[in-house]
Amino acid sequence: MVSEYEIKKQICDIGKRIYDRGMVAANDGNISVKISDNEFLCTPTGVSKGFMTPDYICKVDANGKVIQANAGFKPSSEIKMHMRVYKERPDVQSVVHAHPMYGTAFAIAGIPLTQPIMPEAVIALGCVPIAEYGTPSTEEIPDAVSKYLQHYDAVLLENHGALAYSDSLLSAYHKMESLEFYAQLLFLSRQLGGPKELSKAQVERLYEIRRQFGLKGKHPADVCPNVKAGLPSCHNCGGNCSCSSSAAADGDLVAEITRKVMEQLNK
Ligand code: 13P
Repeated sequence: MVSEYEIKKQICDIGKRIYDRGMVAANDGNISVKISDNEFLCTPTGVSKGFMTPDYICKVDANGKVIQANAGFKPSSEIKMHMRVYKERPDVQSVVHAHPMYGTAFAIAGIPLTQPIMPEAVIALGCVPIAEYGTPSTEEIPDAVSKYLQHYDAVLLENHGALAYSDSLLSAYHKMESLEFYAQLLFLSRQLGGPKELSKAQVERLYEIRRQFGLKGKHPADVCPNVKAGLPSCHNCGGNCSCSSSAAADGDLVAEITRKVMEQLNK
């Protein structure tokens, strides 16, 4: 079991990485880690995330209320956004918010990252939607992000930045890094005359690989089989939908019954 102090050190390491990689400027960005159902460690507000030491890190409850913070430190102003992710995605153990240059440029231009241009981005992220603009620190951002939480592990925040979340701190950070790399490649290939996109069949093969790997999290590859069968999505299976065969079979049955009813009506 990793000690709380060790997790605080890991948060500082990731803070340094996002700062050193230019994914944040000045005091931007925030990071949190869930340590129990009602305890979360988070970065403090208004400090450079590249120069933190473990004593900077605050502890809050599931409502974002302070459990422990050293003198001079208050939890991130975006703690409500983090808490909404944990509330609506029980599988998530860590949330990373940053303003990576290319991802944020797409968020400002209002262009979601949807073009399938390289296998790694397709497998890791699928696509990255844009959550509608909200005023930082208010409930507007959590409300805007909420709509996408059950379908994606990373979102752009309109005119603001990016948010990634996963089952570990390192994995949440990696999603942020993948998002930025994808955005950068998309930007550059657009300068070179536009990307040559992967075909639908190529994308579907990559999705199949993702499913075979049993990768956790939410991803377009994991669209509930109910949807494929024309039924409402359950979207609650964490991507490893155990209802796959029965839902698909049910869908086939419904389609068959509908066809027969239509045949009778048309007679
Ligand atoms: P905090 O320093 O309060 O976490 O805010 C930084 C930020 O990036 C707000 O969007």
